[in-house]
Amino acid sequence: MNKIIVSVILVILLILGINKITDIIFYVEKPEKSIYQVEGVTTKTTTKTASTNSDDELENIMTLLTTVNASDGEKIFKKCAACHSITKGGGSKIGPALWGILGRQVGSASDYKYSKVMAAYGKTWSFKEMDSFIKKPKDWIKGTKMSFAGLKDTKERAALILYMNNNTDIPLPLQ
Ligand code: HEC
Repeated sequence: MNKIIVSVILVILLILGINKITDIIFYVEKPEKSIYQVEGVTTKTTTKTASTNSDDELENIMTLLTTVNASDGEKIFKKCAACHSITKGGGSKIGPALWGILGRQVGSASDYKYSKVMAAYGKTWSFKEMDSFIKKPKDWIKGTKMSFAGLKDTKERAALILYMNNNTDIPLPLQ
């Protein structure tokens, strides 16, 4: 008799136990789902923000050009001067001469031997093109032989580009 009662109690406990376990599983699953959904939404938002940011940055370079100082750019150009001349009549060094570079066709200095990718690039140096290139040369023109890591600071690039735009016969309009 005792054994029967004990096994009945055990079965009841087991059923109760399974119920509890099921409860716990359901309980855990629900929040997991909603967390997942929230994550999805968050990712979307982040991507949107990111693309807006890069658009902003491009617009920024045009706006920034009117706020930065060319003399700051002159100091920053020291990073480039090991390989580039910027003065009128300055020749090519490790890199091509940069007098009048803005508005010039990419890879078109006649006395300089460019890498294949730069010679074939086919665009002209606009403010935006220059900004993207200087930010990370090897990413913008893949295969370029210019070994310069890049200038991360948007304001520094703007000042540098403004300085470069002053070292030319025909500066590009700032609008
Ligand atoms: C270690 C040397 C080195 C440094 C430092 C360097 N460059 Fe260059 N640069 C080169 C070389 C080499 C090329 C030619 C790249 C090719 O042919 O792929 C080049 C090409 C360029 C061009 C393309 C010129 C054209 O005729 O189309 C621009 C613009 C330029 N550099 C700007 C800069 C600026 C601005 C800096 C400083 C922030 C800088 N470079 C720093 C070596 C350098």
